Amino acid sequence: MDKLVITGNCKLNGEVEIHGAKNAALPILVATILTDEDILLQNIPDLRDITTMIKVLEHLGKTIQRNGREILIKQTTAIKTEAPYDLVKQMRASALVMGPLLTRYFHVKVSLPGGCAIGARPINIHLDGFKHFGAAISLDKGYVRLKCAKLFGTKIVLDFPSVGATENLVMAATLAEGLTVLENVAKEPEIIDLCEFLNKMGAKIIGYGSDKIQIEGVRKLSGVEHKVISDRIEAGTFMIAAALCAEEVLIKNIELKYLDFLTTKMQDSGVKIIEENGCLRVFGTSRIQPINIETLPYPGFPTDMQAQWVLYMTQADGASLVTETVFENRFMHIPELERMGANLTINGHTVFVGGNSSLKGAPVMATDLRASAALVLAALIAEGETEIHRVYHLDRGYENIEKKLQKLGACIERLET
Ligand code: UD1
Repeated sequence: MDKLVITGNCKLNGEVEIHGAKNAALPILVATILTDEDILLQNIPDLRDITTMIKVLEHLGKTIQRNGREILIKQTTAIKTEAPYDLVKQMRASALVMGPLLTRYFHVKVSLPGGCAIGARPINIHLDGFKHFGAAISLDKGYVRLKCAKLFGTKIVLDFPSVGATENLVMAATLAEGLTVLENVAKEPEIIDLCEFLNKMGAKIIGYGSDKIQIEGVRKLSGVEHKVISDRIEAGTFMIAAALCAEEVLIKNIELKYLDFLTTKMQDSGVKIIEENGCLRVFGTSRIQPINIETLPYPGFPTDMQAQWVLYMTQADGASLVTETVFENRFMHIPELERMGANLTINGHTVFVGGNSSLKGAPVMATDLRASAALVLAALIAEGETEIHRVYHLDRGYENIEKKLQKLGACIERLET
């Protein structure tokens, strides 16, 4: 298990290139199950979650050739329709194989994803949707089995705009017979990217990006090339790093329109951000105004930036409130940040963040992906040295974070323990 050692009071300067979006690449990789033909994907980040998804696809029978950021997916053998516990337990997004496997092969057996550090994260909305399509569902020894003679288009109103359920049900609907109407769906940019990819393959999907998606089922989908969008959460994390530690940092390879949520909040907090040839130049500031946020489904403030925002607000000129409404237990970073000197109090789903905190380096434990990002940001501004243990959480969603930060001038090293 590696650890990161960071010497604080960092000054960052320069440019950083954002990688492809993990949360777009994962469902798009899964969607390749919908065809036998070759698919070429570009801008695929080199992350642990992507490697896990590649293993899932290889297990199912796909052949994957990786060449840097490009991945070629071929199908040379018959597809298996079972995703075992060993693979699914590593990453809940593996449950996304249900939709494509069911709609193409009419049966699928997937290990139920277990509990998760950031909440229970059930898959009831996915399963309710599959029932509407006509699938029979049974649970057996930790596995869920789905079966049908055929999937039929239907109308489904999701109980909550779940990102994963929207993706699973859209993929299922592409090859179902007739029209499917999905309401109260997620509108995240990653859903838009998935739908655009599916349409390139020959699917007939309209309405994505709104809360109603309509899918006219087709008989067959084909091989295509597609470049995934860039990662708005990695970009957001570097924007906060720049505001806290930089003179100025140029953030490149981003989708500007998908960063409005953060740009506006950061500008409200007093940070100067300039758009420059499709990139963002973020200037550091020592006067941060406190800004309350509440996490919400897109286009609201993303839960995946909540931990980083809590850390950011510890440096504000006054107190603020951060409320988590998407996940029920996503405050694991709070005790670790407190150990570094942050003034934080949890009350139900809200954290009171006392501003003007001087943080001190300490040994801390990464607990989940975005919590780890908050600890890295904290270490960059703390006085002295911070050791972050269990950085494998970070490697799930940030590619070479230490190299990118080193290039900006941070004193950060990865050590094997
Ligand atoms: C995706 C993202 C994750 C992000 C989250 C919310 C990927 C790979 N991951 O996760 O980074 O934090 O969206 O933006 O894209 N829920 C149910 N029943 C269900 C499904 C979800 O109750 O069947 C609940 C979950 O417990 C959670 C909330 O809905 O409280 C949001 O979950 P969901 O939108 O499904 O998130 P994921 O797709 O797992």
